[in-house]
This record gives sequence, C-alpha cells and structure tokens, in this order.
Amino acid sequence: MKTEYVERPDLKTEEGIQGIRRAGEIIRRGGLVVFPTETVFGLGGNALDADAAQKIYAAKGRPSDNPLIIHIADPSEAALYTETSDLFVRLAKRFMPGPLTVVLPAKPVIPKTVTAGLPTVAVRCPSHPVAHALIAAAGVPIAAPSANLSGSPSPTTFAHVKEDLDGRVDMILGGECSIGVESTIVRIDGENELTLLRPGGITPEELGEFARVTLSAAVLDKLKEGERVQSPGMKYKHYAPKTPLYLLRGDQTARMRYLDAQTGKFAVLAYTEELAALRFHPASPVLFDLGSVTDPSEQLHRLFFLLREADKAGCERIYAALPGTTGLSLALYNRMIRAAAYQIIDTN
Ligand code: TXA
Ligand code: MG
Repeated sequence: MKTEYVERPDLKTEEGIQGIRRAGEIIRRGGLVVFPTETVFGLGGNALDADAAQKIYAAKGRPSDNPLIIHIADPSEAALYTETSDLFVRLAKRFMPGPLTVVLPAKPVIPKTVTAGLPTVAVRCPSHPVAHALIAAAGVPIAAPSANLSGSPSPTTFAHVKEDLDGRVDMILGGECSIGVESTIVRIDGENELTLLRPGGITPEELGEFARVTLSAAVLDKLKEGERVQSPGMKYKHYAPKTPLYLLRGDQTARMRYLDAQTGKFAVLAYTEELAALRFHPASPVLFDLGSVTDPSEQLHRLFFLLREADKAGCERIYAALPGTTGLSLALYNRMIRAAAYQIIDTN
C-alpha cells in the first residue's frame, strides 16, 4: 500500500486542516492513520468497526488477544462506550485530556475485536492537538495501539514511525510526543480503589490523591509462571532493542567502575552528568545522553528514541543505570526492565 504523509500537520494553515480532514475520512471509511499523541505515536482505526480493528492487529503484527485503547475527543464521550463511575468523572476532571487511560466495563457498541473479548475497554482522551483534531474530524472514537511493530520500542518521532509502518498504513501524520512513553493505565475496582496496570506520565503518587492505588504485579517484575495477567500486554516481550541491554544497579561510583572494566564495542545510555567521564574511556563506547540524573521526565522523553538509535550503532551490548521506582521514575523502571529482558547487573 502507498502511504500518504503529512510530516508537520499545522492546524493554523488551510493545508494542515485539509490533511487532518482527509485523515478523518480515511478513519471513517475503515482505513488506518498513524498520528502523534503527547505520549507516543498511535496506529489508529475506527473503534466501532471490527474490520478496522482487525487491520490494526495485522499492520502491527500484534497478537489479537491484546486489546486496543479507544481514544475520544472529550472525556464526556466515555459514557457512550463504557459504564463510567463517579471516580472516573473525578479522574477525568483532573487528568484528561492527558496521558491517563482508564479501563471500564465496555458497552456492546464496542466490537469484541477491539477488547480482545474482554468485558472491559480502555479509554483515553489525548491532549495532543493533532490527535484531538483527528478524533473530531473522524467523528468516531479511534482505536489505537502504539505505532510500532509488535515487540519494538514505541515510536516517538516521524522518522521512527516510518521505519516500522511505511507501506502498512494509509496515512502518517507527524508531530512531537512531549512525554515519550505510553500513558498510565488504571483499572477502576471500586469507588476508592484503583489498580495501576502500566505506569506512565501520571504517577501513582498523583493518583493516590483520588483513591487507593495497588500496583499490578507485572509493573515491577516479570510475571511468575502461571500468574494471572491483569493487562494482556504485560505478558508480551516489549520495548526491546535487538542489541542486548543490561541495567546496572549501584551508585554512580560503582557503575562507573564497572563500565571502566568493559571492553569491546558497547553503547551507554548515560546521565548527562556522567558523560564527561565516559568520553575518555579507552574502549570509546558509543554514548547517548539520557538526560540529567535529576530529571526523570527528560529521561522518559528520550528513552524510546535512544533505544532505537542505540540499536543502529552496531554494538554488542548497551548499558544503562537501573532507575528508581518512585514518581516518574517508575515508568522508566517498568519500560527499562522489559527492554533489558530483566537482565540486571549488581555493581556495588
Ligand atoms: O499512550 C498510549 O496509551 C498509546 C497512545 C497511542 O495512546 N497507546 C498504547 O496502546 O500504548 P498499546 O496498545 O500499545 O498499549 C495498550 C495496553 C496494552 O498493554 C493492553 O494489553 C492494555 O493496554 N489494555 C487494553 N485494553 C485493556 C483492558 N480492557 N484491560 C486491561 N488492559 C488493557
Ligand atoms: Mg504498545
């Protein structure tokens, strides 16, 4: 299939508006459009059309037992497709539009291909102006997983989307993803109970102001044999570069000492503060600046972009520090342990 591009859709120009209008039409008649959101790029189709959902799974190479998120233009539309609750309304008021996805009981209008047969559906209202305009132009909710081929890191730039999906979708809209990892997903378990299924730009600490938050077991760990999966996506290999990634546990001194002893061709996703020392390493590692050690939001913003870039550097292995698990770092930790296939090295 020939993919049409609008690399910089500008909603202030007639050309930009026409591009979004065409994209909306493609969605309405059952086609696929990749679009930017504030988290990562999405691979969108009409959420009310079972065939469109089927095409999404095919384009991504995704197993069809892993359900899709539906994207709406305004949180009030959630009531059309799901059974909402007071807690949902309170969360929506505080966090939507934005990087929060809420799992709610699905109404029958949502096809089973979208929910992968589950009785629930995940709902999100993105804040990115292009995403918002596209949903409005389509006039239907948009089912969209992250716009990567199944297994690889979610794309956060136009170039990375093209690497994965050129020729597999009808249209690609470009733009910036300010957050850089996928949305926080919660399931509402009662008026005062939330389960965090996937950490993201909204932290458990922030959600804790609204309800008691329980972390799903798969957030911090590999699922144990036979353990029940609460979010189907958690059981799949995810976010992984092809080059093996190793996470170093330990303080800066211990990690640097470990890296000092490494030979061969390797890459390091290093904190800005640690780059200077690594520049004089005798093995001349390929260095990537992950952002300041004190700025987890910058690190999140760069992580998926750098994992893809590090993969192209032709190295035998990639190293990065194991992040903490509080605040925004929890999302980094969750993505990085998966990207590393849980390979953690103690350097202390
Ligand atoms: O930021 C995001 O959420 C991006 C952008 C495009 O919106 N989307 C995204 O979609 O990350 P995806 O499909 O890559 O990840 C959605 C995750 C999957 O792990 C899936 O298993 C889970 O949400 N999920 C979807 N519906 C669910 C449900 N009803 N119950 C539990 N988990 C669900
Ligand atoms: Mg994904």
